[in-house]
Amino acid sequence: MTPKGTSSIYGVIGFPIKHSLSPVFQNRALSHLGIDAVYIPFEVRPQVLKEFIEGARQIENLLGLNVTIPHKEAVVELSDRVSEEVEKIGAANTLKFEGGTVEAFNTDWVGFLRSAESVTNLKGKRVLLLGAGGSSRAVLYALTKAKAEVYLWNRTPEKAHRLAREFQVEAIDSLEDALKGVDIVVNTTSVGLKENDPPLFDYSLITPEHTVIDIIYRETPLIRRAKELGCKYQTGFPMLVYQGAESLRIWTGCEPPIKVMEMSLKEYGYPIEHSKTHRQTLHQPS
Ligand code: ATR
Repeated sequence: MTPKGTSSIYGVIGFPIKHSLSPVFQNRALSHLGIDAVYIPFEVRPQVLKEFIEGARQIENLLGLNVTIPHKEAVVELSDRVSEEVEKIGAANTLKFEGGTVEAFNTDWVGFLRSAESVTNLKGKRVLLLGAGGSSRAVLYALTKAKAEVYLWNRTPEKAHRLAREFQVEAIDSLEDALKGVDIVVNTTSVGLKENDPPLFDYSLITPEHTVIDIIYRETPLIRRAKELGCKYQTGFPMLVYQGAESLRIWTGCEPPIKVMEMSLKEYGYPIEHSKTHRQTLHQPS
C-alpha cells in the first residue's frame, strides 16, 4: 500500500536491522486487511534507544513497534506498562503506543507455542532445551505453560542452573545422557546461524524418535540431520510468522492473515519446507 498523509506507522527496531523479514510480511498483512498503515525498519543503535523511544512517543500516528536484538531487554525499562509475560520473561518484542504511553508485550513465547504445537503435543513431553539466553527465556515460559517436562542445558552451566531454578525445571550438564531420555530437542542458541558454526554436540546422537525444533529460521545443520533421519522437525520460520501475527493482533485487534504472511515470505525466497508433522521411515539404499 502506498503511504498517504492519513497512514499510521508501525515498525521494527533493532541493530542491525537489514536482515529483518518483518517488513515483508507485516506490510503484506496490513495491506491484505485494508489497514491504512505502513511498517518500517528502524536501525537504532543501543546508545540512542532511550531518545528514540522518547521521540516515538511524540509521533501521533506511530502506533506500534516490534523490537529485536539487541533491544528486547532494554525496552522493558523504557515502557510505562508491561504485560505479565514480559515481567516473567524479562524481555519484550512488541510495543504499543497510545496517547504518548508505551505498553510492552512479549509474543515470542506464544509464537513458539503455536508453532511447536503444530508439530507435536507438548504436555507431559520431555524436552531438552539448549541455551539460556533471552530467546531461551521466552521458549521456557511457553514450555512451562504447556506443562512440558524441561531439561535445560547451556554452554555456560551456571546460567542454565540459575534459569532452571527461576523456572523450577531441571538443569542438566551431560547432553549425551539427556538426549537418550527426551522426546523433543529445542535449540535456542545462536549455533547454526552461520553455516560453518561448529556443531553444538555430536548430531549423530539424534535418533528418528526425536522431534527437533530450531528457532533459527533458516535450515541449520541440526535441522538437516533431523530431515535426514525422517524426524518430525521445525525451523524457526513458523515462530517468526506467529510472533509477528500476535503483534499485529495486539496493535489492530484484527485476526492476522497467517497464510498471506507465510506466502509473502515464500515469494521473497524464504523456505519451502519448514516443518514435518509426521515421522517418516526412511529406507537406506541397499
Ligand atoms: P538470544 O537473545 O538470541 O537468546 P543471547 O541472550 O545472547 O541471545 O543467548 C545466546 C545463547 O546462545 C546462550 O545460551 C549462549 O550460551 P552462553 O550462555 O554459554 O554464552 C549460546 N551460545 C552462543 N554461542 C554458542 C556456542 N558457540 N556454543 C554453545 N552455545 C552458544
